Amino acid sequence: MKNFIIILCSILAVLLIVWLVVHFNRPIIPGAEYQASVRDEKIKIYDVDDLEKQAAVIIPVGGFGYIRGGAETEQTMERNESAFDMVDIYPRVLMGVAEPDLRTSILGTDIALPVIVAPAAAHGLAHISAEAGTARGVAESGTIMSVSNYASSTLAEIAQAGQGAPQWFQLYLSKDDEFNKKIIKQAEKLGYRAIILTVDAPVGGNRTSDARNDFKFPLELPNVAKKSIKTKGQGINTIFSAAQNELTPYDVMRVKAMTKLPVIVKGIQHPDDADVAIWAGADAIWVSNHGGRQLDGAPSSFEVLPEIAKRVNKRVPIIFDSGIRRGQHVFKAIASGADVVAIGRPVIYALALGGSQGVVSLFDYLKADLARVMILAGAYNVEDIKQIKLRPRCDFYSSH
Ligand code: LAC
Repeated sequence: MKNFIIILCSILAVLLIVWLVVHFNRPIIPGAEYQASVRDEKIKIYDVDDLEKQAAVIIPVGGFGYIRGGAETEQTMERNESAFDMVDIYPRVLMGVAEPDLRTSILGTDIALPVIVAPAAAHGLAHISAEAGTARGVAESGTIMSVSNYASSTLAEIAQAGQGAPQWFQLYLSKDDEFNKKIIKQAEKLGYRAIILTVDAPVGGNRTSDARNDFKFPLELPNVAKKSIKTKGQGINTIFSAAQNELTPYDVMRVKAMTKLPVIVKGIQHPDDADVAIWAGADAIWVSNHGGRQLDGAPSSFEVLPEIAKRVNKRVPIIFDSGIRRGQHVFKAIASGADVVAIGRPVIYALALGGSQGVVSLFDYLKADLARVMILAGAYNVEDIKQIKLRPRCDFYSSH
């Protein structure tokens, strides 16, 4: 009888451990091999903000801290989202809008909605399918996938998973120019349709969660590993320091000379910098404060968008990111001068929660949410949104 109880308890203990691993995707022994999610299913989304809390349960602590974290006090990261509340959308009626057209195009590529995927490193921290999984979901959703050169799938795997769907390649210039030329040529050959040159990270922001967790990438970043730097077991600051950290307009010109693809300069937060990037040959600019991961104490990305759009004056298209979580944010950014917007963290959370199907669920949600906002605001299509004047939120008594 005693033996029977011991055997029974052992079986129950093993079953409990298996259940914990499968259910929470968490390593049982601290420091054991990193276990990213294996889920592959549609997810129910009530609010994009919920995804962060849900993903926190299944992405291992260090990886989650890296994905979620902003710089220092995270005030800029928080303001990225709350700044959208500084302006309101007038509800409009009797406009006859019932089925708005969400389609638009950017740099010659038609997309199903004005929301694309921002480049973000190492999707493999969230899901074993990594960027290849994201690319499948994005292709099914009819929009553009931006691929970080710190991706955890190879450029070839991601291109193959996208099956011809539009993809852009994001580059941090390496100190090794032969490497820059080689990786750009590889991206061109694989069918990537634009080069995004990120210029706002000559040094990493002070990301306290990474410091507290002593976060090191538990996986290889195969597009840059070996060829130029060691990535597995390194923190992001070591990886950033291997990139070229003195950037000037000449570097934009250099990249332009390396490729026939359009070059998008990403990380613009000042009208003068937009001017310089365009002068140096940028085919588009990307207004972004890197999701609040770089300079804490900077304005939200949304607050600087109107002044930049005014200066750019439609010379080149504007892509916007940092803080987009809902249809009204997309609407407000486009009404303030963006041509399309990009989302980063929510895509990775959706990937963790449902694999490529989770990514499809996220875009389905955003399509429905944006369509609803357009109906209620009387915008028939994306060009209409660009003509709409938002209402600054102000103190009622001082303005009347
Ligand atoms: C980051 C880089 C890799 O923000 O984009 O961590």
